[in-house]
Amino acid sequence: MAHLLITGGAGFIGSHTCLVLLEAGHSLVVLDNFANSSPESLIRVLELAELGFESERLRVIEGDIRSEADLNRAFGATPGSTGIEAVIHFAGLKAVGESVAHPLRYWDVNLAGSRSLLAAMEAHGCRNLVFSSSATLYGYPEVVPIAETAPIQPINPYGHSKAAVEQLLADLYGARLQSQTPWRIARLRYFNPVGAHPSGRIGEDPNGTPNNLFPFVSQVAIGRRKQLQVFGGDWPTADGSGVRDYIHVMDLAEGHRAALDVLLAEPPQLLTLNLGSGQGHSVLEVVSAFGAASGQPVPYEIVPRRAGDAAATVADASLAHGRLGWRTSRTLQDMCRDGWAWQSGNPKGYGK
Ligand code: NAD
Ligand code: WQD
Repeated sequence: MAHLLITGGAGFIGSHTCLVLLEAGHSLVVLDNFANSSPESLIRVLELAELGFESERLRVIEGDIRSEADLNRAFGATPGSTGIEAVIHFAGLKAVGESVAHPLRYWDVNLAGSRSLLAAMEAHGCRNLVFSSSATLYGYPEVVPIAETAPIQPINPYGHSKAAVEQLLADLYGARLQSQTPWRIARLRYFNPVGAHPSGRIGEDPNGTPNNLFPFVSQVAIGRRKQLQVFGGDWPTADGSGVRDYIHVMDLAEGHRAALDVLLAEPPQLLTLNLGSGQGHSVLEVVSAFGAASGQPVPYEIVPRRAGDAAATVADASLAHGRLGWRTSRTLQDMCRDGWAWQSGNPKGYGK
């Protein structure tokens, strides 16, 4: 069992991963500034893990990854003297459109924040890291399914900031490889994470109008929005709508646990893995599956394509399976059922 620091642990993917890690017996320190989340998610994680609010196994620190003082508090917060053994680094900003309007903000939080985290890890002698990267690095893919060897060609500031962190991690890994304590790093490139814990107690809680398909569709189903706009009906896909590789957030959380286990068990390495299902679904398939799961109609209209979209992005998920012994097990129907349990049980999210 390890003591872990989870940056951004109150967020969508972080909260589900915290639950899976607590259930696996790990002790966690979460560092989050709640810029895009609420402490309520972690209260519910404790409930689901059947731990008391005062549990030593989950310490929450409100703080910023760009602050050396906050990082020092986090690294000093483990019970006992063993210190933090590994970090899972979720904290960051993720809205593509906002990154185009505010590139400084994205480079600051995503790159400068990661840089200061890495400096603190070196200072505290912790060199084991799982990093949240993104399939957004592949831009407009030339070959689908997309393998990890595909060119890195991001097309927006969000993607550029993720590519820069990936490069920084490779540089740091190379610089310390011959040292007494080399880094162990996993760069995990997520495809489209969706859904929620099957209890419906934790889930995705976007601010304002959702940019992403799943939260938008579920807000239409609950009646918070009138109808979905389908961006493009003329893509070169089977039904003309865009195709993506949706991954259930619980599968993704379990992928993190598997990556951590492999990193800590094997000799030092720099792992770079796609986390996806390997299966594509179109927007219209999602609309129909969500309608069936919720029993609610999802009215939609087809409108012109959105700038910056690709026709289809689907992971070649074979490397993660080979290296981690992990693969997704949940279907599109499961994603819709669990997403609906969250949306219908919490029509206003965490009410933050
Ligand atoms: P999220 O916004 O729900 O979670 C991010 C968390 O980081 C939030 O709790 C937020 O409050 C926190 N945070 C932001 N800035 C911070 C700072 N300066 N200091 C401390 N905490 C800070 O997003 P998510 O969907 O859970 O994504 C987690 C990670 O995965 C992000 O790095 C994101 O870029 C990456 N990712 C997400 C997706 C996706 O579609 N959700 C896809 C690929 C990669
Ligand atoms: C999915 C499909 C849209 C909304 C984004 C980021 C990516 C990653 C995951 C972080 C597309 C269509 C959407 C709507 C629609 N995030 N759509 N109407 O664009 O694949 O990926 O989230 O790393 O970086 O770019 O996800 O959910 O926005 O779109 O028709 O109102 O749904 O055109 O085909 P995307 P998405």
